[in-house]
Amino acid sequence: MERPTDAMRELFGLAWAPVEHFAQMLAEEGELRGLIGPHELPRLWTRHLVNSAALAPFLPEDATVADVGSGAGFPGLVLAMMRPDLEMHLIEPMERRTVWLADVVDEVDLDNVVLHHARAEELHKKATFDVVTARAVAAMDKLARWSVPLVRPGGALVALKGRRAAEEVEEAKYVLKKLGIVATEVHEVRPVPDSEATSVVVATKRG
Ligand SMILES: C[S@@+](CC[C@H](N)C(=O)[O-])C[C@H]1O[C@@H](n2cnc3c(N)ncnc32)[C@H](O)[C@@H]1O
Repeated sequence: MERPTDAMRELFGLAWAPVEHFAQMLAEEGELRGLIGPHELPRLWTRHLVNSAALAPFLPEDATVADVGSGAGFPGLVLAMMRPDLEMHLIEPMERRTVWLADVVDEVDLDNVVLHHARAEELHKKATFDVVTARAVAAMDKLARWSVPLVRPGGALVALKGRRAAEEVEEAKYVLKKLGIVATEVHEVRPVPDSEATSVVVATKRG
């Protein structure tokens, strides 16, 4: 497994112990439990843990956050560890993955996580959150349809996107508008110096 650098330790700060514990669990069980592919372990820190951390500065203090399609726990579990002030809801429809998420929550002893074994659409009209996060779940238009109804008025969808972030936002602009998004920004973020840049899309909903 890739060895974390000093800059990564600094990035995670007080969350270092839980994040390292999570990394260890993934290294031991991730492939066996079908959560990450064999090629992902050598880049677990850079590609997954550090990449997830890129969203932390975009989340307001004490916010309620829903991570749509958490999978193995990216970015939701990492953000819950870094930001104990948040109430982090993980929305994941695949049972095998929700069992894994529950195991990590138990083992790392996180008390700010609520698990939802559901598709995002199943929570429409039932729950809203200050922020909805997502990574690698769907293209922007589909992701917006699933996620924006879960954002409270004045809140935001904050999504980790790849190099095509700006194009995806442009392609989805009518869908975003229809869903009540009034402003969309694309930020290029490098969570640690020399790390790969990642794009963070912040789509704010009408208040
Ligand atoms: C490619 S994985 C990405 C997982 C994780 N976010 C990551 O970045 O590693 C996509 C995840 O979205 C979940 N998913 C698919 N459709 C969904 C929906 N409608 N609502 C919530 N989650 C969904 C899948 O079960 C899967 O765990």
